[in-house]
Amino acid sequence: MTTTLDTLALPREAQDLLFREARTANAFTDEPVTDDELRAVHDLVKWGPTAMNSQPLRVVYVRSQEAKARLAPHLSEGNRAKTVAAPVTAILAADTDFHEHLATTFPHFAGAKAVFADDARRTEAARTSALLQAGYFIIGVRAAGLAAGPMSGFDAEGVRREFFADTNQLPLVIVNIGHPDHSGTHPRNPRLGFDQVVRTV
Ligand SMILES: Cc1cc2nc3c(=O)[nH]c(=O)nc-3n(C[C@H](O)[C@H](O)[C@H](O)COP(=O)(O)O)c2cc1C
Repeated sequence: MTTTLDTLALPREAQDLLFREARTANAFTDEPVTDDELRAVHDLVKWGPTAMNSQPLRVVYVRSQEAKARLAPHLSEGNRAKTVAAPVTAILAADTDFHEHLATTFPHFAGAKAVFADDARRTEAARTSALLQAGYFIIGVRAAGLAAGPMSGFDAEGVRREFFADTNQLPLVIVNIGHPDHSGTHPRNPRLGFDQVVRTV
């Protein structure tokens, strides 16, 4: 039987960087995260696929202590201190007005915007593709040599009011980003095996 290493096209070092050795970070060193690194993450992960190329993910980077203080009250207790201490924190949100860009991002289909005329359908589509993009984002952070600490433990309505009041954007996931301090990393938990998660019909 061939192994994963033999089968994948991606070099072993990249497999390890993105998945095998990458860990969810709970603590970070003082080394800063630069704006150039954050821009490089975007320039890579923007190529990930979304429904009708809708690209609904929006990102707010929370960097200053003032902005962290606005975020902190909306975080669950266990997520608060590590988020305030992280070099930078991304609020990942779904833009339910993504359809306004479709004439540019899906120009070969004139009826694209009309497909999403219904509010409920558009909100569901925004959430689905933005969550996929959130996954690409986490892997992109790792590709930049950084570590990500994704969190869903927060009051989404509170974060929406504080950071997205004048928009139709819905916060989905908050991600701490930095160079990992491995003393904060939990022991690796087991993953389900191929036969537990796959059926071929
Ligand atoms: C969508 C999502 C939400 C999460 N929410 C939290 C959270 O609120 N607080 C927390 O400490 N960890 C949170 N985690 C971290 C997960 O527990 C962690 O990624 C998982 O156990 C795998 O850890 P590993 O990458 O170190 O193997 C979240 C992860 C994801 C992807």
